[in-house]
Amino acid sequence: MLKIMQKERELKNDMKATAIAPSNIAFIKYWGKKDEKLRLPENGSISMNLSDLTTTTTVEFSPNLKKDYVEINGIKEQTEVNRVIRHLERVRKIAKLTHKAKVVAKNSFPIGTGLSSSASGFAALTLAASKAAGLDLGKKELSILARQGSGSACRSIPDGFVEWLDGDTNDTSYAYSLYPSDYWDILDIVVIVSKDKKDVSSSEGQKLVLTSQFYKVRLSNINKKITRCKKLLREKNFSELGELIEAEALELHAVMLTSTPSLIYWLPGTIQIMNLVKKIRSEGLEVYFTVNTGQDTHLIIEEKNKEILLERLRKINIIKKLIINKPSVGARLTSNHLF
Ligand code: PMV
Repeated sequence: MLKIMQKERELKNDMKATAIAPSNIAFIKYWGKKDEKLRLPENGSISMNLSDLTTTTTVEFSPNLKKDYVEINGIKEQTEVNRVIRHLERVRKIAKLTHKAKVVAKNSFPIGTGLSSSASGFAALTLAASKAAGLDLGKKELSILARQGSGSACRSIPDGFVEWLDGDTNDTSYAYSLYPSDYWDILDIVVIVSKDKKDVSSSEGQKLVLTSQFYKVRLSNINKKITRCKKLLREKNFSELGELIEAEALELHAVMLTSTPSLIYWLPGTIQIMNLVKKIRSEGLEVYFTVNTGQDTHLIIEEKNKEILLERLRKINIIKKLIINKPSVGARLTSNHLF
């Protein structure tokens, strides 16, 4: 039966699909796994999808291909290619498909610099590959599948403001939408201070969590923090949410800095921007920062204050580029194929 369906789809030539997915910024961050293989996180997390950091991915399964072909931003980097192929295997297993695939992905922003390209990348790949394989998965199933490719990718499937439930099993660890993208007019302005790629990936860095004596302290408080973050989101309390986001980022980096070997993702420009944010805030403009595994900072601000902040930032010569993000919908299909 499955073989017949596969044949029908081949004849119709529709084993191809394209998806666009946003990256996301975590307000409460994911760091450390309780199951390495399934990528079950030690703790839940909360994030916002980002409108202007996206990956577009086209996947086509074909009986004519002898092996998988993967190209990301025009490059075939082996470690990334292997990770994509492992994800295609997961999709093939569910769809009971044997065909190889052609995958072409394009990012709207630099990869490997801490802007969570694996989140948008694996969310787009999950949606495009599952659709191309003839599956019609719901958001929860897509989130579960995306998580296995890259943890934070599960948060790029649902819309807007998102919670990832840590879960104890494959089926209970997924992300869902707390609020849609038009819930709140806040922005994430990404400040790029360098295009250098980081030396240690998030996946590798996370393996060191237990070597930091602060990690246990972090975990003992994290559920309270998640509850508080959700309350502040519900109340749209920007000041307290901003303070919480900033303190959370610094706590995460305290764990990274005290791991063995230590993980130092910041560059001088990162610290300069963090201090600038505090200065601007002391002058009365409410802006807060957060940082992931990389040198670029994310500035969280209410939309109404955008222009005043941009004016300040334009005078800072270490800034290479600014990317202004609104809260975004999650992964979606498009008919604009990349090949
Ligand atoms: O999903 P990964 O392996 O890229 O890890 C993401 C880690 C952080 O960006 C630092 C935190 C987060 O929750 O996004």
